[in-house]
Parts: sequence; structure tokens; C-alpha cells
Amino acid sequence: MITIQALQLPAVLPDAFWHSFLTFVSEERRAQAARFVHQADAYRSVLGEVLTRITLSELTGVPAKELSFSRNAYGKPCLVHNPHVPFNVSHSGDWIALIAGGTAEVGVDVEKIAPIDLQIAERFFSPQENAYLAAMPADQQNHTFYRLWTLKESYIKAIGTGLSLPLDSFAILPKGLGQGPADELCWQCTQTGHAELTGQNQSNSQSVHQAEGRNDRVMQHRFYSQPLDAQHMLAACASDGELPMNPEIVTLDQIYTRFVEGR
Ligand code: COA
Ligand code: MG
Repeated sequence: MITIQALQLPAVLPDAFWHSFLTFVSEERRAQAARFVHQADAYRSVLGEVLTRITLSELTGVPAKELSFSRNAYGKPCLVHNPHVPFNVSHSGDWIALIAGGTAEVGVDVEKIAPIDLQIAERFFSPQENAYLAAMPADQQNHTFYRLWTLKESYIKAIGTGLSLPLDSFAILPKGLGQGPADELCWQCTQTGHAELTGQNQSNSQSVHQAEGRNDRVMQHRFYSQPLDAQHMLAACASDGELPMNPEIVTLDQIYTRFVEGR
């Protein structure tokens, strides 16, 4: 079963929690935490690993401190001894989000919402996404930008190739284009303009159709998109399986209890 957990960080962590958590993470993470100028960056980084370790320990039965991680060529972490246990973490602003479980590739992204220059979208989004964004009422464009941004990032994080996949080479848009309230939309990813692809080499995770004279691949990935609060957008992606209806909001006290039990 795939779960999404979201943890809201306090401005200041109790010392006892912080020092315990620091002893729990990898040496690299401790060293990185010491180098951050802003304490909030250190909290996000360390708590992201703590939530990951606790959850993966519960999933695998391996004590949290004994879990070791490696990364693929693009930086996506996996467990060394259980490389097929899916998980992915994201942190931004006041929130940390972790997706874990199931058997498919998963990715998650949380972004703090700020006013943005919509020209950024023109640089990074596909033409189809830009058309969708431009058709939104002006007062919804910033929010929609973050929805698309987090969805796109959750997808590249699920497939694990980072930004080596050009961001304008795929479009994530609602099925049936924009019917109904944004929070209830069902999102779908299409990889655009793959002229070399034929119907014979499609895999289970995609179907191929002709659109405007080129082959587009409709990916079977599932998506989740909801704001966590007025200032943070969350998106998640799984290459297969059911995503939960809602994230599980976890508190720092709960994390600490699980941490003590899982040591
Ligand atoms: N695939 C999946 N997960 C990855 C990853 C990869 N290639 N590389 C790192 N991660 C994981 C790590 O666990 C990392 O946390 P850690 O460094 O504390 O261990 C976590 O993802 C960071 O995710 P997030 O908090 O969302 O960071 P980010 O938004 O700064 O970075 C990446 C996102 C990792 C995908 C990175 O490739 C990047 O720099 N992206 C730029 C942002 C962007 O252009 N997004 C496109 C949206 S349209
Ligand atoms: Mg991100």
C-alpha cells in the first residue's frame, strides 16, 4: 500500500528532539546540517531523513539506524539492501512529505507557494501546459502554476532521471481538460513528440496514439495534487497502484514516539 505522510515543521525544534534526531541520521547529513546557514534548511534535511528511516524501518523490519542508502546516477535515493522498496521525500517551506510503499516507482514534491513571474512557465512547461495555464482566470494562475510544477516534479522524481528529462518533453494535464474543481481533477501525463515510437514497442506503462501527426505516449502513471495549506502545494506520482485519497498528517510528537520505538 502506498502512503503519503506530511510533517509540518515548527519554527524551533525542542533541543532534546533535535539532538536525538541528529544522532540518528547519516554522517553526511549531520555534516550537511552543520553547514546550512539557515536552521530551517537543517531541520528540513534532517527531519526528511528521520521520517524516511522510521517509515522504511516499519516497512522492512530493519532497525532504522541500520538502513543504508545509495543513489542512482541522478541522485534518487534507494535502500542498499532492499532496493525495490519505493520511497521518495521532498521538503520545502514548512513541510516535509514522504511517499512510500507499494511496488511501483514513486515520487513526491512539495513547494512553498510564492508569487512568481509566469514567464518561468513559458521556459519550462510544454506548450500544452502553457495553454492550460494561460486559459485559467488570472487569480488562479499562480496556484495552477504550482500545481503543474509540483506534478511535473513528482513525475521526474518517480522516474528518477532528474532534469535529464527535458521538462517540456511531457505534459501533465487533467483528463478531460479542466472539468470540475481543481482539487478533484484526475491528472494524466503525456510524453510528447516521440516520432520514433511505434505501437509495437509500447510497454504496460504507456499507450501510444497519434496526435497532430506525431506519436504521443500517454503514461499510465497516477497522480495526486492538493494544497497542504494556503502556502504549500503537494503532488505525488506512482507508476502503478493506487495513491491514497489524502496525505497522513503526522506530528513531531508522533515522529519522536515512532523514532524511540524504532531505534
Ligand atoms: N529523483 C528523485 N528523487 C531525488 C532525486 C532524483 N533524481 N535526486 C534527489 N532526490 C530526492 C532526495 O531524497 C532529496 O532529498 P535529500 O537531498 O534531502 O536527500 C529530495 O529528492 C529533494 O526533493 P525536493 O525537496 O523536492 O528538492 P528540489 O525540488 O530542490 O529538487 C530534484 C528536486 C531532486 C528533482 C532535483 O533534480 C532538482 O534540482 N530539481 C530542480 C527543480 C525543478 O526544476 N523542478 C521542475 C518542476 S517543473
Ligand atoms: Mg521539489
